[in-house]
Amino acid sequence: MKLWGGRFTKPTNELVDEYTASIYFDKKLAKYDIQGSLAHVEMLKVCEVIAAEDADQIAEGLKKVAAKIESGEAELSAENEDIHMNIEKLLIEEIGSVGGRLHTGRSRNDQVALDMRLYLREALVDLTELLVKVQQSLLNQAKANLDTVMPGYTHLQRAQPVLFGHHMMAYVFMFQRDVERLRDSWKRVNKSPLGAGALAGTTFAIDRQFAAEQLGLDGICENSLDAVSDRDFVVEFLSNASMISTHLSRLCEEMVQWSSAEFNFVELDDAFSTGSSMMPQKKNPDVAELVRGKTGRVYGHLMGMLTTLKGLPLAYNKDMQEDKEGMFDTVETLRGALALFAPMVETMEVKKENMYHAVRDDFSNATDLADYLVGKGMPFRESHAVVGQTVLHCINQDKYLLDMTLEELQSFSDVIEEDIYTALTPETVVNARNVAGGTAKNRVEDQIKKAMYFLKESEEWIGEKAELIGV
Ligand code: ARG
Repeated sequence: MKLWGGRFTKPTNELVDEYTASIYFDKKLAKYDIQGSLAHVEMLKVCEVIAAEDADQIAEGLKKVAAKIESGEAELSAENEDIHMNIEKLLIEEIGSVGGRLHTGRSRNDQVALDMRLYLREALVDLTELLVKVQQSLLNQAKANLDTVMPGYTHLQRAQPVLFGHHMMAYVFMFQRDVERLRDSWKRVNKSPLGAGALAGTTFAIDRQFAAEQLGLDGICENSLDAVSDRDFVVEFLSNASMISTHLSRLCEEMVQWSSAEFNFVELDDAFSTGSSMMPQKKNPDVAELVRGKTGRVYGHLMGMLTTLKGLPLAYNKDMQEDKEGMFDTVETLRGALALFAPMVETMEVKKENMYHAVRDDFSNATDLADYLVGKGMPFRESHAVVGQTVLHCINQDKYLLDMTLEELQSFSDVIEEDIYTALTPETVVNARNVAGGTAKNRVEDQIKKAMYFLKESEEWIGEKAELIGV
């Protein structure tokens, strides 16, 4: 008989059982469901809603059920629909009818909302930690490449030289915003819906705050209707995950480009590359491509969840059972990508010589010639035109600015002197961008110092939260 079978006279159609069941995927919530039930039963005991000896028996029983689920010994069935009713059934099998007192003052509606939050807060700690490791690997590459000059691009056309370390630090700051978003979302995730009941609260004299504290939650959801129908925290997570995926995907694209023969700026480690079944010479950046590709499914889950919630009346609706698979898949997708990313970046070989040649054989010091003329008193708009002419001349002569003789240069402007040859070298050009946030070596070093500070702070946050939730 079903836990809710009382008012029914017929068994459920088998296809309905199968179709409405969520056990296939919400079994991932088992651990959190039991955590929540342990806190709930302790609260029922302290509030004297159920007898202390019953509560203790239930707590013992729940621990046994947890062990049996973990070992795979417990059978979870679609007939019992979801993880909540499967666990309750198993509990009653384990300790008899006293197990039936666990659900006093509770509904699956507040229960599932709680489980989702407990699952997600743990994932937030885990993903933040992985993200910080990615930042750390980028920072290490930045430190190792404070003298590596590469072409900086706009429109994927060589624009102005930058340090490779500067380029790496751009991603460190980008991912820092993601870390901040994940950390900020914690305060909206870590709230207790428990005690909201099905939708309106409960007639029992329970203590919602006590249950919340047991679980390390920062207070309760203040409105019972909102408590059971709120899945904003899932949408917010999927949105943050989408942003992280965007950032990863952009870096992936650069890694794919850089490792092509056309760029030849980096070589990914053999351990993070794959081969071709037909072409013996191939070494493919599959990991970077797949991380880029998996962005699609993360965006898809965000759209899916938003669409599911759109138009749902208060409070709980079965539609909301669709909140799970997308969230689980997103957590796992990101976990996989981030775990691979840190060592992939860390072991990436940077071909400094090739980057340097790309800058040398290029006009990305043209702005510096224009700025040089400004330094000699010419208005910028005029110097821009003069340098444009000079570049055109070079292109026609198949040479670069530094290949021109002084006389040639002076034919475009007589203010040009011998010092132009140092003014236009890649090193001078980079270090001339000595403005806060610029690509001059000392400015990149400043960025690294700032980043080391916030990485340390993130690590402290991770440690504090991990301790709170006992992982
Ligand atoms: N399996 C359900 C879900 O994931 C649990 C809540 C069901 N509540 C209900 N009244 N049918 O959303």
